[in-house]
Amino acid sequence: MSWFLLLLYLLLLKLINITMMHIFTRLPSSIRCSCKDNRLLNLTKSFSTGSPAVDTKQKRQRRNEIFDLEKKRQKEKVGRIEKISVSYKGPPENMEFVMNRGISTPYNIAQHISEAIVNKMALALIDDTTLWDVHRPLENDCTMQILHFEDQDPFHVNKAFWRTCSFLLGAVADNAFKDHIPVSLHSFPPPNVKSGSFVYDVQLGLDSWVPAKDDLRTLSAEFVSLAKKDLPLERLEISSEVALDMFADNAFKVEQIPDIASSNPGNTVTVYRAGDHIDISRGPMIAGTGFIGRATITAVHQIQTDLGQFYRFQGVALPRGIMLNHFGYGILEDRARKLNTGRLPNQTDDYFTPLGSSSEMAS
Ligand SMILES: *[C@@H]1O[C@H](CO)[C@@H](O)[C@H](O)[C@H]1NC(C)=O
Ligand SMILES: *[C@@H]1O[C@H](CO)[C@@H](O)[C@H](O)[C@H]1NC(C)=O
Repeated sequence: MSWFLLLLYLLLLKLINITMMHIFTRLPSSIRCSCKDNRLLNLTKSFSTGSPAVDTKQKRQRRNEIFDLEKKRQKEKVGRIEKISVSYKGPPENMEFVMNRGISTPYNIAQHISEAIVNKMALALIDDTTLWDVHRPLENDCTMQILHFEDQDPFHVNKAFWRTCSFLLGAVADNAFKDHIPVSLHSFPPPNVKSGSFVYDVQLGLDSWVPAKDDLRTLSAEFVSLAKKDLPLERLEISSEVALDMFADNAFKVEQIPDIASSNPGNTVTVYRAGDHIDISRGPMIAGTGFIGRATITAVHQIQTDLGQFYRFQGVALPRGIMLNHFGYGILEDRARKLNTGRLPNQTDDYFTPLGSSSEMAS
């Protein structure tokens, strides 16, 4: 009996195989072929270790120079150091801290508490209401709690995780292609964990590109290796003038910046940096890319809008330490392959829903 089942199983596998072959042989050869010289992705490229294409490299360098200058200027502006008191609400216990206004961050406070807190803090909660990036300087007397992935209801941490994954997917897409293929990052829709995938929308100088399985594998490997570098997410609020200068090479961002700035009280734009990648996001983001565990770039869909053709990069990831068996993860991957119906690049009305301040409110 069991032999019979085995036979049936093998037959089924064979059938599936034939169907797969059928599908793949029908694809144009340029798509099917993963021969080295036909590849669109540059396998020899790597992030901070290698030397990316000159053009991309120069753009990145320039953006980083502006970021560094602005960060330095803001630090100097703090001037005479003023003290603020921060009431930390445990576990392990409630504690009082005297910190430096505009300099000390939740991360610094965690360092005073314990290594365990440093390692698990993904996000901070200020005055019970405001989500605060771990590396963002505190501005006033406040209470502080930490948020982490093992919280009973990690809703905000998961959302920040998904958002950070979109940000990182942008970094991967921006750097993965061969030099002659222009890449323009557009934006990503607000994170929606329920949708099953995180997203980044990109315009590529390619017509009707359908990534081969190998291409997706390469993108996934880049994503994972970037995550493994455990890069901190740096946050910086900049004026719209500085933002326009920083993203001068990206026509989409230049168009988005005035809208984003006008929805913020100080006419500012919030940008984030991980490694040498900088992008616009309202945030908050998780503390560092090291919180990302298993991850897969599952699909790149073509989407048509009245702004032209875009490619919707999609992926799925689990926080580090969250275990799932092969079968379960496979189901997540399958779901993440379906076209995510989140906001399209031409729907700009709800870019960065203003919420009173540039930080997201909890609840
Ligand atoms: C791939 O990237 C490497 C390193 O940045 C560069 O030297 C090489 O010219 C690139 N190859 C192509 C085909 O773009
Ligand atoms: C976006 O583009 C699609 C396709 O061209 C169009 O149907 C839709 O109305 C556009 N949406 C907006 C908000 O312009």
